[in-house]
Amino acid sequence: MPTPITCNEDLRQLARRRVPKAIFDYVDRGSYDETTLNANRADLQAIRLRQKVMVDVDNRRLDTTLVGEAARIPVAIAPTGLTGLMHGSGEILAARAAQAFGVPFTLSTMSICSIEQVRAAVDQPFWFQLYVMRDRDFVRSLITRAREAGCSALMLTADLQIQGQRHQDIKNGLSVPPRLTVSNAFDMARKLPWLWHVLRGPSRSFGNLEGFVRGAQGTQTLAQWVGGQFDTSLSWKDVGWIRDLWPGKLIVKGIMDPDDAREAVGQGADAIVVSNHGGRQLDGAPSTIAALPGIVDAVGHRTEVLFDGGVRSGQDVYKAMAIGARGTFIGKAFLYGLGALGQAGVSTALELIRKELDITMALGGIRDVADLDREALWQPSSGSASGATAQVNLLDAA
Ligand SMILES: Cc1cc2nc3c(=O)[nH]c(=O)nc-3n(C[C@H](O)[C@H](O)[C@H](O)COP(=O)(O)O)c2cc1C
Repeated sequence: MPTPITCNEDLRQLARRRVPKAIFDYVDRGSYDETTLNANRADLQAIRLRQKVMVDVDNRRLDTTLVGEAARIPVAIAPTGLTGLMHGSGEILAARAAQAFGVPFTLSTMSICSIEQVRAAVDQPFWFQLYVMRDRDFVRSLITRAREAGCSALMLTADLQIQGQRHQDIKNGLSVPPRLTVSNAFDMARKLPWLWHVLRGPSRSFGNLEGFVRGAQGTQTLAQWVGGQFDTSLSWKDVGWIRDLWPGKLIVKGIMDPDDAREAVGQGADAIVVSNHGGRQLDGAPSTIAALPGIVDAVGHRTEVLFDGGVRSGQDVYKAMAIGARGTFIGKAFLYGLGALGQAGVSTALELIRKELDITMALGGIRDVADLDREALWQPSSGSASGATAQVNLLDAA
């Protein structure tokens, strides 16, 4: 009998066995010394919860709205590049799993399956994540394509105009499309189901860019491509230009600083995502959970503050919401599921989080996710509410 999957780490281990090392490492690893990657997990794990007993926790409610859309749990799928290499047709499978489960799915600019391919394969519209390239005509056309596909929100990613180095990608010779080399041929040959699915997928390179952007075709490293195409002059004044092209909901992702949060709100963002790109960009930045309290205090009354970075369990979602996030995104947590078991693995990743969140709420004396606040965190000293704040402040200063 196969070992039952009890937690996200089980999906991670399964994905590690099924996906070629270069692709698994691309998902799993972070930039430079991985200080920030590790801090995202460690700081979330360090938070202690308040145990509350003898509270009627019958009929718990986990549903909410995220950026105006119904969500069965306060979780959405984060935009991730090259998802169609973690598993063939990966973006389509993840979008289907998310929609069947009842949470938003975000498609990356750097996806393997294009906006049109994903839209044709799923029932409902999804969110689209935008990277701003030097070629503004192309950016305009991407926004138009997202609008024509009925995408219900545009997410502008602000923290990757230049790519932080991931040592492991260089060591593995990661390229797009994957290139057969002497060193990886043996690995790929041992992962034939993976290869079969990838070869059957609708695309093997950047689906949104192929045929549109010069240099998007042909094999090259991701870092080379980003270095050549992304616009390092992107600044707050460009948000107005994007707003004019996109009348719908606008989310700004990659906010780690209260001043940047205020600026994003001032520019008309309907929501922000507190994110350090999953520890893949500025190494040495604090964990997102450490940055969250200051940002919630600065703009939480004016906009939806969403959160990502290190979320692997329902307990993690609970902690972020207790500090003031409206909901969280999952990146690696869904990718591990996808690499492990395709669409069923993404559904499993979401269902694990749902169950963990549900039980954590019951044990913490919380009946409705909307009631989560800092009181739900453990109070280190006297049991006073200020103790919980002290715990949050500790993280803040980390
Ligand atoms: C493999 C991978 C690819 C990613 N690609 C993108 C991307 O194309 N656009 C983007 O805005 N964020 C991207 N991200 C960042 C995620 O959207 C999200 O911020 C991050 O994964 C959250 O941290 P977590 O992986 O610990 O959940 C990527 C993350 C991973 C792991």
